[in-house]
Amino acid sequence: MARQHRTFTLSELKPSQRYDILSGLVVPRPIGFVSTLSEKGIPNLAPFSYFMVGGIRPPSLMFCPVLNMDGQPKDSLKNVEKTSEFVVNLVTRQMSEGMNAASYPYPEGEDEWDASGFTMLKSQVVKPPRVAESPVQFECRLFQALRHGDGPSASAYVVGEVLVAHVDPSLIDEHGALTGRFEPIARLGGKAYLDLADGNVFELARPNRPAGSSLD
Ligand SMILES: Cc1cc2nc3c(=O)[nH]c(=O)nc-3n(C[C@H](O)[C@H](O)[C@H](O)COP(=O)(O)O)c2cc1C
Repeated sequence: MARQHRTFTLSELKPSQRYDILSGLVVPRPIGFVSTLSEKGIPNLAPFSYFMVGGIRPPSLMFCPVLNMDGQPKDSLKNVEKTSEFVVNLVTRQMSEGMNAASYPYPEGEDEWDASGFTMLKSQVVKPPRVAESPVQFECRLFQALRHGDGPSASAYVVGEVLVAHVDPSLIDEHGALTGRFEPIARLGGKAYLDLADGNVFELARPNRPAGSSLD
């Protein structure tokens, strides 16, 4: 039987409805936990589920730090635009509470690492540190940061070339190949997450945010 779709014209919707359509339907999304440094060297850490690989030659990935409700860039975007380096750490269930804590919009210069309890591990080819607790870490150099729109919640695409991948030995078999059994968590709509390790859906409420921070 043919489906009777309802059609939404996104330009006619409120931002929160657009958010629900895009973030609630393009699921499950992996989470890129992004480590950057400010120009002054202050570390920053924040999760992004608008995140995906983009190609192999060159090896690239992207994440999307949307602008805040006041149209200002998030610290991760500012840092990457200034320093051109970042590390993407992938997120397991054990890391989920700390990852969520790091999503609080701390003022620039306040350390999400302290608040979230993760341990810094020196990177090999870029300056931002890796998250020691993460089983997979990608050191990246900025290719391009693309802004799409310029108001509240406007889109931004940070595309990076993956220079180095660090992989926990438990994910590699005796021949040096990946086992194919990496089981991180993934973001679903609203507060819901999927734990690929056991197939369960669980919820995490975002830390209370100041008014006007962001839709995500
Ligand atoms: C699981 C999860 C996924 C998120 N994904 C995004 C995203 O894709 N884009 C975005 O702009 N914010 C996203 N956020 C919110 C940011 O992490 C949050 O705005 C953070 O304060 C940004 O930090 P920064 O200003 O240090 O860059 C996400 C939050 C969580 C908990």
